[in-house]
Amino acid sequence: MVNVAILGFGVVGSGVAEVLSTNSEQITRNAAQEISLKYILDVRDFPDSRFKDCLVKDFAVIEKDSSVQIVVETIGGVGVAYDFTKRAILAGKSVVTSNKELVAKHGYELLELARERNVNYLFEASVGGGIPIIRPISQCLAANEISELYGILNGTTNYILTQMIQNGVSFESALREAQRKGYAEANPSADVDGTDACRKICILASLSFGRHVYPESVPTEGITGVTLADVGFAERAGCKIKLLGRAIRLDDGRVACYVAPHLINEANLLANVEGVFNGIVVRGNAIGEVMFYGAGAGKLPTASAVVADIIDASKHSKTRKYLNWMDSSAEAQFDPATIENRWYIRAEAGSEAIKMFDAAEVLSCNGSGNETAFITEKMSKAVLDSKLKGFKVLSAFRVLD
Ligand code: HSE
Repeated sequence: MVNVAILGFGVVGSGVAEVLSTNSEQITRNAAQEISLKYILDVRDFPDSRFKDCLVKDFAVIEKDSSVQIVVETIGGVGVAYDFTKRAILAGKSVVTSNKELVAKHGYELLELARERNVNYLFEASVGGGIPIIRPISQCLAANEISELYGILNGTTNYILTQMIQNGVSFESALREAQRKGYAEANPSADVDGTDACRKICILASLSFGRHVYPESVPTEGITGVTLADVGFAERAGCKIKLLGRAIRLDDGRVACYVAPHLINEANLLANVEGVFNGIVVRGNAIGEVMFYGAGAGKLPTASAVVADIIDASKHSKTRKYLNWMDSSAEAQFDPATIENRWYIRAEAGSEAIKMFDAAEVLSCNGSGNETAFITEKMSKAVLDSKLKGFKVLSAFRVLD
């Protein structure tokens, strides 16, 4: 039997307890032993919970209990979650987490610590909610040199954009609905300003390219600048606007990551990833292109990934899963502003803005409010900025080619 402790009885933590209990037969069969929930740590009281007998308030109880082999960290953030994770690993316990902020910020250090202590630090649920993506990249695609990853990595913003595109719903009311459904972060600005997607692309890039990519090195733009006017012009161009995290590796090994809204052609599979769903495309030199799709947020989908890691950790109690990368280095990075794309532009300008480009596709010229919208030929951000110098640009989004 393997004893488990859950740290944090919020949306994901309570989902993990529920899945462990509801699917216990299946889980026991897959783990080839019983997985028993021994403790739940939370500062709050839950007198009506069916798990109330497991609740404790002092982490030391879990830390000192040598019968607890696996700790599930679903507290979130980089405060006590970081402290408890280190203490659990130092106490010889494997740690399983959905905490993308912690993995993106301290993943290298925590993986090193886990390696030294011969325990596992697993984080399948940190990217893509219930979608299997960490294990496929580290195992199923291990024979490939990965050159690029990109995808819709945040369910809340995809839900909001879908509501804007399909129903003309306002940003604010779509966000409120996402919060009500338990998709959004505790502070939803991390969703809408792209921070959450940034953390996730950092984790995927670190795993795929072998060096830690820290969030502060990743230019990040969220969806607060996307308007219903942009949605309409994108539709005129046969595209949908989606927030993408993207990581590219050049032949010389240098890597660039960024997060930004993109126009995606309606025929592209990613354009049809709607609502809270996420879609992630991985390009490898043997596999070609492969796409992962599924529920990117929510209590039970995320718990599904956490519990899969619990099963994996229980099966590898005496061995380590190969999950490691090196620390970052400035020489291993290049500036994503040099990546060439076509660009969607909406500007407070007339045809003079369009004339700056050799082959602009005009979507609207001198429309309402003297607005002009068009799509440029391929160029870097620096070239784009030099051409549009002096014009009042309202929106500038990359087109995914
Ligand atoms: N707030 C996140 C999202 C939760 O909306 O995708 C899952 O990481």
